[in-house]
Order: sequence, then C-alpha cells, then structure tokens
Amino acid sequence: MNATTEVAAATDVRQNKLTDTGPFKLGSEAHKRLFCRTLLDTFDPYQPGVADWPPLDPDIKARLTALPIWDMAVQTEDLAMRRVKAFADRADDPLVKEAIELDAFEEGRHRAVLDTLAQAYGLRLQPGRPWRDPVDPEWAFMVTGLGECIDSFFAFGLFEAARCSGYFPAPLIDPFERVIAEEGRHILFFVNWLAWRRRTLPWWRRPLFELKVWGVWIVLALERMSLAAGFDAAPVEESTFTITAAQEFGNGLGVAELMDICLAENERRLGKYDPRLVRPTFVPRMVRLARRFYLRRASAPPPAGGTEAAAGGRVGVGWAAVEVAASEGAPAATGAGTARPGKTSSSGRVSGST
Ligand SMILES: [Fe+2]
Ligand SMILES: [Fe+2]
Repeated sequence: MNATTEVAAATDVRQNKLTDTGPFKLGSEAHKRLFCRTLLDTFDPYQPGVADWPPLDPDIKARLTALPIWDMAVQTEDLAMRRVKAFADRADDPLVKEAIELDAFEEGRHRAVLDTLAQAYGLRLQPGRPWRDPVDPEWAFMVTGLGECIDSFFAFGLFEAARCSGYFPAPLIDPFERVIAEEGRHILFFVNWLAWRRRTLPWWRRPLFELKVWGVWIVLALERMSLAAGFDAAPVEESTFTITAAQEFGNGLGVAELMDICLAENERRLGKYDPRLVRPTFVPRMVRLARRFYLRRASAPPPAGGTEAAAGGRVGVGWAAVEVAASEGAPAATGAGTARPGKTSSSGRVSGST
C-alpha cells in the first residue's frame, strides 16, 4: 500500500469513529470537539527518514535539486511551526491547545521531511532565519492559517498536476503525499477554529476580531500581489513558494486547466471529512469567479501571437497570480478544462467565510 492509499485509508477509518454525534451549532462544545478530534484522531505517526527517498536517475535528480523552491519550503515550514507553537503556548482551552500543539509538531515534521530529502539528494539548504516571538501570537497564527488556505489550495492542484504529468516518478511523490494530506487537515482545523473563535468571543470583542481577520487577508493579498508582480526580482521568501511551484509544475498546463485541477483536488481532499465541519471557501470562490472570467476571455478571439497562457503571460487568479511559463506544445487554454474532470461545486456542507 503506498502513502497515498495509506493516508486515505487511515483518514476514512478514523473519521468513521467521529460520526457518532448529531447536529450542532458552530461555536458549540460539540463543534469544538469535532474539529479538534478530527485533527488529533487522524494523526499519522510516521517518522521522516532518508530511506523514504528512493534512488533517482541522474536527470530526475538534477531536475529535483535544481527546483528553486527548497529554501522557501523549509523557511515556510520553520516559520509555520514557530508561529503555531507560539499560539499553542497561550491557548486556554486544553483540547484546542492539544490540537494546535499537534499542528505545530506536524509543521516541524514537514521541515524534517525536507531535511531528509536534502540529505538524500545532496541539496544545500540555507540556514534558518533568526526568530523573534510574535507580539501578537493570534495574529501570527492567523497569518499562517489563512496563508495556508491560499497556498494549500494551489499546492493540491500543482501536486496532482506533477503526479499526472509524471514530472516526478511515483516513489518520489509518495513521501510528499503525507505532507500535502496534513496541510489539508491543518486548513480544515484552522477554518473551524476561526468559526468557533468568532462565536465564542464576548460580543464586544467580535468587531475587533473581524478587523483583525480582514487585516490578515489584506496583508496576505498585498504580499502575494507584490511578489507575483515582481517575481523575478523577489528575494527568497516563504510566501513565494506557491508562485514558484506554479511556474515549475504548471509548465505546459493552461491556466483554466490548472484552476480546474485545483478546484477538483480541493473538493476531493477536503470532501472526505465530516460534512458538519466548515471548509475553506474564500479561495475556491475567488478561483471559480476567475475561472468564469477566464472562460469568457479564452472564448474571445486570441490576440496576435496566441493566447496569454501559450505566450507565457501572467494571469490573475483572484489576488494571487499564477505564472504560466511558455513551453513548446503547451495547450492553448480553451476554457474546456478537460485535464481533470471533477465536481467543483460545494455539496451542501457548512459554509464558512474563509
Ligand atoms: Fe507544513
Ligand atoms: Fe500546515
């Protein structure tokens, strides 16, 4: 059984144990128990090791080690682990604290996965950056949580695109599957924590909390827009990871196809959890909107020289931008989205505002 099948089977089995409670209100004790237990009970107790990484043909190894994402990925995981841990340290509720501590542990383990990959294939990673405790751990936790809602959505699709295209061989995909599956659990936990937190705060603290949430969205949006606009000149930062990965793995895919894959994968990965839990909705909604816009644009007569995607243009997806590199034989974006058919609509689950 490969990692993908193992993770899926473990999730299904453990999720079945959680379906013994009835309906509840968001913000209730039952809601809290369910989103915390979902994270805790679907824990995968693997230990990263150098042996996880198979021997590779020289050309595949060269392609892997040449990817400009590894330092960003390590810094992202490092920062996420520290921010989440800082918030766990101040959490009052014992069950919520336990779940956030597990989240922080898994972020640290993602870093360990990357360390073993570096060891196995001789990657030289930059040393970590100095860390200072955040002034507001809740803000830092929300920056990581909402940032993951953006990045994981695209990572789901890019990972699937890389898998289907054979960009990397199957044995190399397997160790990453565990990390991607965990990021799915993290964003599910985060949006439910957010829904619970909103409803359990005293009424007079809620307006400030909402302002804080919007403040985080604005910071993340500005950060990603500026990085997308000046990608080539951008320094190595953790938040460039999605954009860089899109450039690499999205090579040869039309923008519309990439959006369809991201939407279908998001549905597949998060659809298996208890339907009473809130799902991240903001990024999928924005991408669906952009997808409709792109469909209209793609059906218009292409400009001289071909479509924007085929010409290697940069196309906005909500506030994020996916840069589609020009490549010989890249399919023109017809808007048909034929690469990975799948249902992209919500299936009657609880909607959140994230
Ligand atoms: Fe992570
Ligand atoms: Fe995460």
